[in-house]
Amino acid sequence: MANDCFKVKPTTGLKGKTTVPGDKSISHRAVMFGAMAEGETQVRGWLAAGDTEASLASVQALGIQVDRHSKNELTIHGGKFTPPKDKLNLVNAGTGIRLIAGIMCGQPFESVLDGSEQLRRRPMKRILTPLQMMGANITATNDRAPLTIKPAQMQGIKYDMPVASAQVKSAILLAGLFARGATAVVQPGPARDHTERMLSAMGADISSDGTTIVLKPNGALKPMDLTVPGDISSAAFVIVAALVVPGSDITLTGVNLNPTRTGIIDVLKAMGADLTVMETGLEAGEPVGEIRVRHSILKGTEVGGKVVVEMIDEFPILMVAALLAEGKTTVRDAQELRVKETDRISVMAGELAKMGAKITETPDGFIIDGPQQLQAATVEGHDDHRVSMSLSVAGLVAQGDSTVMDARCAGDSFPGFAETMAGLGAQIAVENV
Ligand code: S3P
Repeated sequence: MANDCFKVKPTTGLKGKTTVPGDKSISHRAVMFGAMAEGETQVRGWLAAGDTEASLASVQALGIQVDRHSKNELTIHGGKFTPPKDKLNLVNAGTGIRLIAGIMCGQPFESVLDGSEQLRRRPMKRILTPLQMMGANITATNDRAPLTIKPAQMQGIKYDMPVASAQVKSAILLAGLFARGATAVVQPGPARDHTERMLSAMGADISSDGTTIVLKPNGALKPMDLTVPGDISSAAFVIVAALVVPGSDITLTGVNLNPTRTGIIDVLKAMGADLTVMETGLEAGEPVGEIRVRHSILKGTEVGGKVVVEMIDEFPILMVAALLAEGKTTVRDAQELRVKETDRISVMAGELAKMGAKITETPDGFIIDGPQQLQAATVEGHDDHRVSMSLSVAGLVAQGDSTVMDARCAGDSFPGFAETMAGLGAQIAVENV
């Protein structure tokens, strides 16, 4: 599997109706929060992907029984955790390690959280600082995983988060469930609010005015029954593909339209994208709907400020849209991209340069003058799912046949990416080289 690659050929006319796999953020939370609840939590539409499987394996290692009815349907028998026999391995999952760290700080036993070499490079000070302020006994060498956590009594704090991060916010709130007194988190921007929505649905005493979130511990969480909506971050690859591939007209159904996640829709619309969004209902306390996308002549735009956190995972694919757009696209305030699975600004600029793209990197973003004609190339995914998939979409509009090495990592968030794209008529195939 390690040598799998995407073979991509120029394509025209993506057509059809499809769905995308379950939301990654909600799927991580469903297994972790379900594991903490007293009783049986039912989850349908769960994302069975590299990152979320690591979270599932971790709660199982904590003694939680999970019945797997199918890949995407689980019953979680929540309750008290038992000490794990080994380190918990979160593999590549930044969300997995940061959220579970908050939970483990409240346990009466020691644990060690670790992951891949890639995860060991990611910054953990952002959770260590607030958790230590709460009195947690959590340590790390050079502020990187592995994280060692020992039992300690925590106190609620009021924390002004320096970066708008849902992972940091969630780690603090989850630790707050085990602390004495109330915990408050003040966020500098509208980081995704799945934790607040799910904890509230499970009976936690949590309130938010959009900036300050306050949690008061009030006993065990209640189990839930939920269907995970489709991931807008996965949908974004299909959406941009349909926008840039001439003659396309596709519809995605069952997509999560939580407003803390839909920044990409707003920005693409500002670029002139022909997108029709229709809300069809609620799933798991989240708005869900249909998105129709038709090929569009895009124009450059300026992106910065509040919308950045609402589309933080979509910048690699936005780069592809910007290369095809007429005029200048400028992205600012997106320095967080440099500490994702990879430094997504420099990795994407470097790989797209192999396809002939000219992208100016800035410390907190990039500038692209479009439109630019891309040339086929062999490019690297860098074990970063969103990089691999973005480069594959770029290949659809390049001249000639491209190869994206490291297709496996697409499965960290979007299992079946190539198959979904091929179902719409895209010439993307997985091959073993
Ligand atoms: C996530 C939060 C975001 C996002 C990540 C998922 C989450 O990270 O990039 O893919 O589920 O909480 P930050 O919290 O670091 O912004």
